[in-house]
Amino acid sequence: MTKDKSLIAKYNGPISGYTEIPGDKSISHRAILLSMLSVGRTHIENCLFSDDVLRTIEISRLLGTNITKNNLSLTVEGLGLQGLRKPLDKLNFGNSGTAMRLFMGILATQKFKSVLIGDSSLNKRPMDRVADPLKEMGANIKTTSGRAPIKIFPTKELKSINHNLDIPSAQIKSALLLASLSCSGTTVIKTKTESRDHTELMLRDFSSSIISEDNKIHIKGGELTSPGTIQIPGDLSSAAFLILATLISKNSELIIENVGLNPTRTGFIEIMKLMGGNITTTINNQSVASEKIGSIIITSSKLKGIKVPKDLITSAIDELPLVFLAGACAEGTTIIRNAEELRYKESDRITSMIKTLNTFSIKTKEFNDGAIIDGGIITGGTVDSFGDHRIAMTALIASCLSEKPIIVENCENINTSFPTFKKTMNLIGMNIKEY
Ligand code: S3P
Repeated sequence: MTKDKSLIAKYNGPISGYTEIPGDKSISHRAILLSMLSVGRTHIENCLFSDDVLRTIEISRLLGTNITKNNLSLTVEGLGLQGLRKPLDKLNFGNSGTAMRLFMGILATQKFKSVLIGDSSLNKRPMDRVADPLKEMGANIKTTSGRAPIKIFPTKELKSINHNLDIPSAQIKSALLLASLSCSGTTVIKTKTESRDHTELMLRDFSSSIISEDNKIHIKGGELTSPGTIQIPGDLSSAAFLILATLISKNSELIIENVGLNPTRTGFIEIMKLMGGNITTTINNQSVASEKIGSIIITSSKLKGIKVPKDLITSAIDELPLVFLAGACAEGTTIIRNAEELRYKESDRITSMIKTLNTFSIKTKEFNDGAIIDGGIITGGTVDSFGDHRIAMTALIASCLSEKPIIVENCENINTSFPTFKKTMNLIGMNIKEY
């Protein structure tokens, strides 16, 4: 492993300009996996080439998939549902929880054994939440005390199930949908809270027999057919860093084009608007891979503290560290509750954000499922990334309002989701350098 880098961010001036954002991470993973599992050749345009997605590409290749890269596009030769080859070695998912969990659903249906491993952060994350419902389908999976390394053994055909999904997780839902493709019957998944629906939308593009209505998904097993081309929209979770940087910087205005605006992902924009954020979104007429896509205009705003509505938590889940920071920058108090899932991400994001904000002299109160944050003056200082890309980027954004520079140690992990973060942020007016 290379020596981990530290970054320093100083207040520079207004944020301005017109920009695009690299492809969506969740959708890039899914595009590669469904292309691999389908019949036919798929061109994936505007794919994200971050460390997490590179793991999905590498593992798909180790399972026999022919993938070629040309600039921002990939061409994937589909193998069909049972065409995967036994890997010669353990499959290393690095930091990517999405890749590991989605592959669990695929590998559980194969006629060979596989061993799934991850880095120190991934090896701490709960995996029984995926393994247990797959076992209900007949899969033979052994986790290590509920975590990776995970061994998946071949088994006879899985059976379709009726499953009530209590955790609002798109990764669990997607693993079950991918496994259900190899079942002869219809699998039904009932969800309490709607999570991101990229898998459902893309399965439809690959001609799967899938219906989702009223928090219930019905999917019939059967081969997928490639749609030929998939266009990946810009990643709203990456755009969120630019959005908050613009809102909290003085005299700023930014336009972001071609961003994914799938309603199961736009909770952060809704929360920022409730806090007084001046944000306008416009959805383009054409949809991209059945996904809504559009532009966002953001101008500097005076934020006020709010109680974040419970029904916006899941659709803002990856952006909640930024909501913690927005609370620190706002006038008054911000209350974030019902967000216990944050404790199971790349770090325990509740504790990571509390420690980060406290270092910046912001007063907080921690709860098991969230926090109360008092708006105040961000003094700056040195913080750690806690091994978490989104914590690292959030802390650097705080420099837009901070009195003194902000140094974030161990920032190499930013490459897992947004490798061009530093360059993009500096182009719109921030000042982030290696330290
Ligand atoms: C993701 C789902 C979410 C999210 C993660 C990406 C996905 O995780 O936090 O970054 O691509 O399906 P959960 O399914 O654990 O909520």
